[in-house]
Amino acid sequence: MSSRHATETARRRTFAIISHPDAGKTTMTEKLLLFGGAIQLAGTVKGRKAARHATSDWMELEKQRGISVTSSVMQFPYKGCIVNLLDTPGHEDFSEDTYRTLTAVDSALMVIDVAKGVEERTIKLMDVCRLRDTPIMTFINKLDREGREPIDLLDEVEKVLKIQCAPVTWPIGMGKRFKGVYHIHHDAVHLYSPTHGGKIQRGEVIQGLDNPRLDEVLGGQAAELREELELVMGASHSFDKEAYLAGRQTPVFFGSAINNFGVQELLDDFVENAPGPQPRATETRTVDPSEETFSGFVFKIQANMDPQHRDRIAFLRVCSGTFRKGMKIHQVRIGRDVKISDALTFMASDREHVEEAYPGDIIGLHNHGTIRIGDTFTQGEQLSFTGIPNFAPELFRRAHLRDPLKMKQLQKGLQQLCEEGATQLFRPLVSNDLILGAVGVLQFDVVAHRLKAEYNVDASFENVNVQTARWVSCDDGRKFEQFRDKVAANLAVDHGGDLVYIAPTRVNLQMAQEKWPEVRFHATREHG
Ligand code: G4P
Repeated sequence: MSSRHATETARRRTFAIISHPDAGKTTMTEKLLLFGGAIQLAGTVKGRKAARHATSDWMELEKQRGISVTSSVMQFPYKGCIVNLLDTPGHEDFSEDTYRTLTAVDSALMVIDVAKGVEERTIKLMDVCRLRDTPIMTFINKLDREGREPIDLLDEVEKVLKIQCAPVTWPIGMGKRFKGVYHIHHDAVHLYSPTHGGKIQRGEVIQGLDNPRLDEVLGGQAAELREELELVMGASHSFDKEAYLAGRQTPVFFGSAINNFGVQELLDDFVENAPGPQPRATETRTVDPSEETFSGFVFKIQANMDPQHRDRIAFLRVCSGTFRKGMKIHQVRIGRDVKISDALTFMASDREHVEEAYPGDIIGLHNHGTIRIGDTFTQGEQLSFTGIPNFAPELFRRAHLRDPLKMKQLQKGLQQLCEEGATQLFRPLVSNDLILGAVGVLQFDVVAHRLKAEYNVDASFENVNVQTARWVSCDDGRKFEQFRDKVAANLAVDHGGDLVYIAPTRVNLQMAQEKWPEVRFHATREHG
């Protein structure tokens, strides 16, 4: 491969933050951008915080339109690297979006609140990361407040999340007694000075744990620190890069994001150790980022981000080759070549037109209804990236049209929204119902809102007797036909044309599974 391609690829770091709401993801994002020099003053990302409390992230996004695009993907340079930070929705009703975003990263940062420890959402997101053994760094936040004993927290992370912890920094006290962190690898103490607001302020750095200056500054806490560290070093794992890259170990940092403290240590370590772009599986072969020809996949589609253009942006992760402005690329699913002259890149401060993009980068393609989540783009090769799932919905509603003459628009709108991953559509084999499936209830509000705004369709959603759904397949064609005949009343076709078993109760599903052992019932469906 050309040396430019190799250098550019090697310096990409593409990641997302995983955390439970309120642990400090927004604050952390803002501080990373601040340290990355992407924003001068903290506070820009903060505006989005309101979205978390609003009835719908999406509707709030709508209000903020222009801003939301920059916060979906943020790119900034740091110490010779190009960092791509992919944002994930705050509200759990949009968790599918989060899961899919995690398929487009090479590593993740887990933020944990020192007082709360491992929380429910973190556990779920960690499970998703584990599907691909995504390497994870951990930041324990809010040390300026009283919290739990650091040793206990590491213990909890190890037990609950089943991943080894390797502390890289260690806190000196907490709450009112918080004095800073000791950097285990650098054998240096970084003293804490609260610096709310946007300025980067470096506190004093004291080299060496035995340095008498430490006793001068910390008084009795210096001896405490030495003692504690002896214990910690004996009881915890030391950093093992291989174990980290394999997703078996997480390096742990402590700090206070809001006070800009501990963030730089994390970022320095991140650019040094976090993996660059990784190879990706397709249905036929593994694509290596070093390959010269371009390939990538779409993991997210976002609507109406720019009030000037009522278009949708498809977010594509570059997997190999170089993307250049004006390039012609091949959309594999529909066998079509498209010339991309106006792809977007996401420098943290603005949305800009892309000239070149390398593996690990995310580009935004204008989508006029032809791009679906999961779509692969190449320079002609018939490839299809795998691992971008649809999850079996847990909530179901029947679409009810106020004006029956609008059926065509309704169908078109729903098809479109399904392709964007906003909802899932099921058409029972034996009725004309349109059944919508979602993972979170707010998705229905968003769909109703968008049908009205974009397709001028007034639809409401009513309860329907479906509790769960499974995609079905079977190697034995004849058996599958029998199955289809016998249980037709419980079968539906999804928006991609795949067959789905829709069950009124979990017991019904279980019985069907027992009765038809040859048929496989899948809780996820890959896009394609
Ligand atoms: P999220 O995106 O993960 O949901 O969390 P976010 O960053 O919005 O932070 C949640 C709350 O925790 C915010 O307080 C934020 O200011 C606070 N916070 C974040 N980092 C730290 C920290 O290092 N120390 C302390 N003490 N607090 C921190 P809030 O009261 O909800 O909002 P605000 O009034 O501060 O804006």
